[in-house]
Amino acid sequence: MSSTATAVPEVHHLIGGERVPAAAGTTFETRDPHDDSLVARVARGDAEDAARTVGAARQAFDEGPWPRMSTAERRRLLHALADLIEAHADELALLETRDCGKPLRESRGHDMPRAARNFRFFADYADLAGNEAYPTAEWHAYTLYPPAGVAVAISPWNFPLMLASWKVAPALAFGNTVVLKPAEQSPMTAGRLGELALQAGFPAGVLNIVHGFGPGEVGEALTRDPRVQRITFTGESATGRAIMGAAAENLIPVSCELGGKSANVVFEDADMDTALAGAVRSIFGNNGEMCLAGSRLLVQRSIAEEFTERFVDAARKLRVGDPKDIETEVGPLVERAHWEKVDGYVKLGQEEGGELLTGGGRPAGTRGHYYEPTVLGGMRNDMRTVQEEIFGPVQVVVPFDDEADALRMANASNYGLAGMLWTRDLDRAHRVAAQWRTGTVWVNCFFVRDLRLPFGGERWSGVGREGGPYSREFFTEPRAVVIQHST
Ligand code: NAI
Ligand code: MG
Repeated sequence: MSSTATAVPEVHHLIGGERVPAAAGTTFETRDPHDDSLVARVARGDAEDAARTVGAARQAFDEGPWPRMSTAERRRLLHALADLIEAHADELALLETRDCGKPLRESRGHDMPRAARNFRFFADYADLAGNEAYPTAEWHAYTLYPPAGVAVAISPWNFPLMLASWKVAPALAFGNTVVLKPAEQSPMTAGRLGELALQAGFPAGVLNIVHGFGPGEVGEALTRDPRVQRITFTGESATGRAIMGAAAENLIPVSCELGGKSANVVFEDADMDTALAGAVRSIFGNNGEMCLAGSRLLVQRSIAEEFTERFVDAARKLRVGDPKDIETEVGPLVERAHWEKVDGYVKLGQEEGGELLTGGGRPAGTRGHYYEPTVLGGMRNDMRTVQEEIFGPVQVVVPFDDEADALRMANASNYGLAGMLWTRDLDRAHRVAAQWRTGTVWVNCFFVRDLRLPFGGERWSGVGREGGPYSREFFTEPRAVVIQHST
């Protein structure tokens, strides 16, 4: 970032180690959802910028040191970048919060430490993971995992740096060069990441950042470039379809982590306090703007009334306000259009027969894109409000009768990203986990991540998995080597 005379920060692309404006000189504004103040003017990339950036990444891959470096040396640089993220965590967290409305307690308490952790984890994993060997009397067979080439990472606005690093870190650790296009709503921390990578000593062209929009602009152009070998994307299911279509032209693998409508299932034998705290966090955390949100609250009928009452009470007590205040639990939604979408679903839920138990509009005295923590009761699993992704602080409560009923409803969804279940019955936990068609099952917890596990979703929630060995498989071209012994 550099300052202009008017002191509005400008964010440039980072291409081949150089900070440059858009080829056409165009910019767009990124604004603070708390008060609509201007955060920065940002380079607005087009097809030419995409081509320049992929060209720089291509050259760094074909001619530069990065893919040929020892994993130990790449590991050292990735840890140096993680060190810098940690050293700048306060600044980065505040930037994130101003850019997308995420409460500072989450950007500072969760996202920045996790962004650093993503770099450390994949740095170590790539350096230490073993290759398979199948020695026999006749031959010696083994695997190699050479990098794929240029990886394009397209990231969303809900966990900007955390999700950008979840893509960039493994791509780099396994020896690829990268073009990152952050979401247009939240470009600030990605811009800083590029600068920190230069400071850490990454060779030019290894990590490139290009800013702008998706359809018809820089994002789409990146997905169509034949010099790209991998695309990793997180965002809306419809965008995933468009990106897979573009990638099909070049026959390249795509990893898509898409939407969700995950059930949060509370059984009558659960520890109620734990289940309640988890249920509140899983829909009101991060302003409800979470692909992993437990956004269908299924409660066993015997406890439904009491649990719903306590849940509504907890929703009313959440501290909604300026996300820069460390006490704030729910901040403003990312942008006006998203506010309208969320509000539209709350109205739809009532038209469908739901009862508004709390919330349902703008909190009194707020100016930005704030939405009250909202609960709709009297819902059925087949309603649109219970089936479609709202992506905001809106919970729908659906009662169920028994385990079979709960599983049937949990699986009756186009999405299959996550699922939470709350029970003290260990047999039940294993039974349900085995039959739940979803990417992650959390028992008596939410958002607990072991980065070695597969992360991704079924059906509309995604294609492919990332994490530990799954990321290695995606970002490399696994090769079989067979050496015949002479006899
Ligand atoms: P989006 O999918 O349109 O945008 C995500 C990223 O993809 C951005 O960087 C965007 O510029 C880029 N993009 C969009 N179209 C593209 C294209 N044709 N080619 C290449 N890149 C493209 O998501 P958006 O519009 O920000 O949010 C819409 C809805 O998507 C939300 O209301 C929410 O329901 C869902 N969403 C889900 C997320 C998740 O974590 N699974 C994250 C963000 C949004
Ligand atoms: Mg969009």
